[in-house]
Amino acid sequence: MSIAVTFITARGDKVEASGSAGDNLLRVGQAAGLPLEGTCEGQMACSTCHVIVADDWFDRLDEPSEEEEDMLDFAAGVRRTSRLSCQVELASELDGLTVAVPADSNDVRRM
Ligand code: FES
Repeated sequence: MSIAVTFITARGDKVEASGSAGDNLLRVGQAAGLPLEGTCEGQMACSTCHVIVADDWFDRLDEPSEEEEDMLDFAAGVRRTSRLSCQVELASELDGLTVAVPADSNDVRRM
C-alpha cells in the first residue's frame, strides 16, 4: 500500500509524495526534492531534518524519544508539533500525513 504524505514548503507550496510502510519520512521528503538536509543520516546528531507536523496528525505519530526531544531543542523555529523526520517511520495509518518544512531549513546540497 502506498502511503501519501504532503509536504508544505516554506513558501506554502504543497508537494505530494508517497512511500511504503516502514519508510523513513526524511528519505521520502528527500526523494521528493524537499530541502531536508539530514546531515547525520538519522543518528539524531543534527536537527537538519526538522519538520513541523500538522496539528491533527501529531498525536497519531509515535511519541518522540527523549533523545529526539533534546535534539529538537537545537532546531530553529521549533514548534509544539516539531519532529525530526528521520525518526518518523511511515505506517498505513499515517496515509495522508501532512508536515511543513520550516522556513529556515537549508540544504547545503543546493548551495
Ligand atoms: Fe540528523 Fe535527523 S538526520 S537528526
